[in-house]
Amino acid sequence: MTKLPLASFLAVLACLTPGCHAAAAPDPLAPTGRWSANTRGQAATPPMGWNSWNAFGAAVDETKLMASARLLVDSGLAAKGYRYVDIDDGWWLKRRMPDGRMLVRTANFPSATTADGGTSLRPLTDRLHAMGLKAGIYSDIGRNTCSQVFGGVDAPNLPEGTQAERETGLYGHVEQDIALYFREWNFDLIKVDGCGIRGLGPDNPRVKAGLYRPLGPVIDFDDLPRTDIAEVRRLYGAVADALARTRPAGDYVLSLCMWGSADVRSWGKDIGNISRTSEDISPTWARMLHNLDTTARRALYAHPGSWNDPDMLFIGKGEFDAAHMVEARSHLALWAMLNAPLLIGMDLRQATPDQIALLGWAQAIALNQDRAGNQAVLAYDSAEVQIYVKTLADGTKAVALLNRSDAPTHATLTAEHAKLTGTIATTDLWTGKTGSFTGETTVPLGPHETVLLKLVGRHRLANGLYLSEMPGSVNPAIDGVVQPQPDPLVHRGLLPWNDTRGGGEHPRYGGWGGAAVDTGPYGQQLQAGHEKLDTGIGILAGSRLEVRNAGHARFIARVGVDDAAWGNSGAVTFLVYGDGRLLAQSAPLHAGHALVPLAADVRGVHLIELVARPENASVAPDPVVWGEAALLN
Ligand code: GLA
Repeated sequence: MTKLPLASFLAVLACLTPGCHAAAAPDPLAPTGRWSANTRGQAATPPMGWNSWNAFGAAVDETKLMASARLLVDSGLAAKGYRYVDIDDGWWLKRRMPDGRMLVRTANFPSATTADGGTSLRPLTDRLHAMGLKAGIYSDIGRNTCSQVFGGVDAPNLPEGTQAERETGLYGHVEQDIALYFREWNFDLIKVDGCGIRGLGPDNPRVKAGLYRPLGPVIDFDDLPRTDIAEVRRLYGAVADALARTRPAGDYVLSLCMWGSADVRSWGKDIGNISRTSEDISPTWARMLHNLDTTARRALYAHPGSWNDPDMLFIGKGEFDAAHMVEARSHLALWAMLNAPLLIGMDLRQATPDQIALLGWAQAIALNQDRAGNQAVLAYDSAEVQIYVKTLADGTKAVALLNRSDAPTHATLTAEHAKLTGTIATTDLWTGKTGSFTGETTVPLGPHETVLLKLVGRHRLANGLYLSEMPGSVNPAIDGVVQPQPDPLVHRGLLPWNDTRGGGEHPRYGGWGGAAVDTGPYGQQLQAGHEKLDTGIGILAGSRLEVRNAGHARFIARVGVDDAAWGNSGAVTFLVYGDGRLLAQSAPLHAGHALVPLAADVRGVHLIELVARPENASVAPDPVVWGEAALLN
C-alpha cells in the first residue's frame, strides 16, 4: 500500500489550506527555517571514480579492480578527481551462519584471506587508500541482490550455501553490515541496490523453487500506486542513519540505486548523496538519451550533497567505444553538465590514449565539480536539439548544444538562453576556439555531437541572480505533487536485451508535475494573467521551496496562479519566510489574476522559504508561478 489511509490523506490536504489547525497532522507548509535536502555524507561535488559493473558485470576480481585502480593513478585521472574505486555486484561468497558475518569470495579476492580463516576486505581498502584512492562497496536493501534476482542461474559469482547464507543483502543486517564495511573494512562509499525488494514476490520462480525467501514486492517498478513508497524510504533511511552513526565525521557516500522507482525523485535527495533516476544504462546512443532524460528536467532536485545519478559512464563500449568518440564526448559533456557522478565504467587496461584524454577533459570536469552545484537547466528542448545552460560559481555560464539526432543540424544559441546580454565571449571547451556574439549565434552540430561552450557576458539581471540560475540552492521540500505520476517525456530507446519483444517501454519514473525551472510543472510555458514569462519557478500549489541565501539583500518575484490552472486549488496565497519568520505575503490570488509583485528584505537571512498555500485541497493542484524570482544584491 502506497497511499495514505483516506482519513490522514484528507487531514494532510486540509492542512494545505489557510487556517489549518488540525491537531493530528503537522502542517507540511509551515516554515521550518531549515534546509531539508541531504547534507550528510561527503558529496559537496559529484563523486568521481571507477566502478566495476559496466566493465565486468559480476565477474569482478581483485586483479581487474586493482589494474584499473593503478591506471587511474598512472594515467593522471586520479589526480583529476577520479578517486572512488567501487566494487559492484559479485564480491561476496556468503553470509556466515550463525553470526551473520559477510564473507568475501577469496578465490577472486585473494588478499581478503585472513590468518584466522575468515575474510576481510581491509587489505584491499588499505592498498587503495595508500594509492590516494577511495573504496566503494555494493549491497542491496533486500535480502538478495540483483544478480540473484535478475541474473541468469549461471550468473558468475552468485552467493553460495544455504538459503540463509545466500542472503547477502542488508535486510535485517543493516547495523552489522554497515559496521563491517565502514568501521572494520574502512570503505568510503556504498551503493545500495533495490532488487531484493523489487523482484522476489511469492510468484517469483526462484522463490517458488525455494532458492530465496519471498519479500514484498515493496517496489513495483511499473506501477507507483502498487509500490509502498513510505516503506522503501524507511528502509533506505535506516541505512542512511546507520552510516551517520558509524561514520560521525561524515566521511562516506551513500549511493541510492532504485532506478527512479518508488517516487525516489521526491525523497532520495533528503537521504542519499547520489540517487539513480533510471534503469541501467546500456552502451547505445538511444539508452544514453533515455538515462539523460530522466535527469534533465530535475535540476531543482539536485544540490551539493544530493545529486541526480543517470548511471555510470559507458565510454569505452558499444556506441561509445574508440570508433565513436563523438558520442563518447557527448556522453561525458552531458554528464558533466548535469552534475552526474562521473564513474568510469570501462576496463582501463583497454583504454586508448584518446579515451584517457577524453575522460581527463579538465574543462568538463571543472563544470561537473563547480562548487555552486547548479545542475544544468534545459533552456531549449526538442526531440532533435537541446540547449543546456549551467551557471557556475563565478557567474559565468556553460552551455551544451546537443544534437540528439542521426543527421547533421545546427543550434541557434541566443543571449536569452544563457540569461546574458550585450557582447558575449565564447570559448569552445573542446577545441579551445574563442569568439564572441551579440544577440545570437548559430553553431553547426554533427550527428550526435555536443558542443560545449563557456560564455562570459553581462548578466541579464545586473544586480543578482534569478532562482532559475541557482537550482543547486533551491530545494522543493514539498513540491505539491499529491499522487505521483510517471514522467512521459523520457526518450524510450530500444532496450537491447528486449529488442522489440513485448509492448515496449511504458512511462515509469515518478516526476511528472514536479517543480521546474523556467517552465510549468508539466513542461508548459510559464504564463499567468495572460502574461508569458521566460523565467521563474513553476510548481504546484500546496508547495514549499527552500532557498539558501548566501549574502543577498532582497528577494523579488512576480507571483500568480498559472493560466494552465483548472481552478482546483481556488485562491492561492504566496508567502515568503526568512529563517522561519513571515516576511511578505500576497493577497489570495485566483487563476486569471495578473501577476503580483512580492518583495522581501532578506539581509542576514540564511534560509528563505516560498510557500504557495491553496484555498482548496485537491488531488490535482493548480500550477503556480514564482515569476522572475530572484535574489538581488
Ligand atoms: C542493478 C544496478 C546496476 C548494477 C547491477 C548489479 O541492475 O542498477 O547498476 O549494480 O544491479 O547486479
